Amino acid sequence: MKNIVILISGRGSNMEAIVQACATEGWPARIAAVISNRPDAAGLQFAQARGIATAVVDHKGFADREAFDAELARAVHGFSPDVVVLAGFMRILTPGFVKQFEGRMLNVHPSLLPAFPGLGTHQRAIEAGCKVAGATVHFVTPELDHGPIIAQAAVAVLPGDTEETLAARVLSREHLLYPRAVRWLVEGLLRVDAGVVTQIKGEPQLL
Ligand code: GAR
Repeated sequence: MKNIVILISGRGSNMEAIVQACATEGWPARIAAVISNRPDAAGLQFAQARGIATAVVDHKGFADREAFDAELARAVHGFSPDVVVLAGFMRILTPGFVKQFEGRMLNVHPSLLPAFPGLGTHQRAIEAGCKVAGATVHFVTPELDHGPIIAQAAVAVLPGDTEETLAARVLSREHLLYPRAVRWLVEGLLRVDAGVVTQIKGEPQLL
């Protein structure tokens, strides 16, 4: 049984999708903990209701990023993670933190990377006149939103789309994409060659 630790900052709908897929698909894994940097993150309640251990490491209580990340790392290690999942975790992580979990830490980002790293992705895609948008699951490396790409989901950008309508369309695909990618990592089905990720059983990496 592999231990999955999920980090959230808010709603936690991707976390929910992963918790549910892990249970219904019978992954050889358990959700060891859900950790938030915000005490009021709604996702914590879902996890608690499911009997999953939760913890809060409130970034406001720390003088700088290094001190926060040191405490966060301590909390994560406390649950002996095989896999660390960033699911709407809205903190920039220090290289020192990332290196401790490199190769076993994933993130979902709401754009087709390498386009639109950082915040405001949907508005930026609309303003750029993009006809396609989407989400990316990638390995986390020290450079923000830049690690090897595991899987992507594409959606149309429709005339009249707002940030909200596009975000909702992308999010519904994230809920399919992210559990699939986490399962692949749990089951050892990913190979990385020179920064390019292959699913060794040939399952589609584009949704
Ligand atoms: C998701 O759309 C995720 O892609 C995005 O935040 C949302 C979290 O929703 N993540 C980022 O922007 C990370 N840079 P959720 O809390 O309901 O899963």
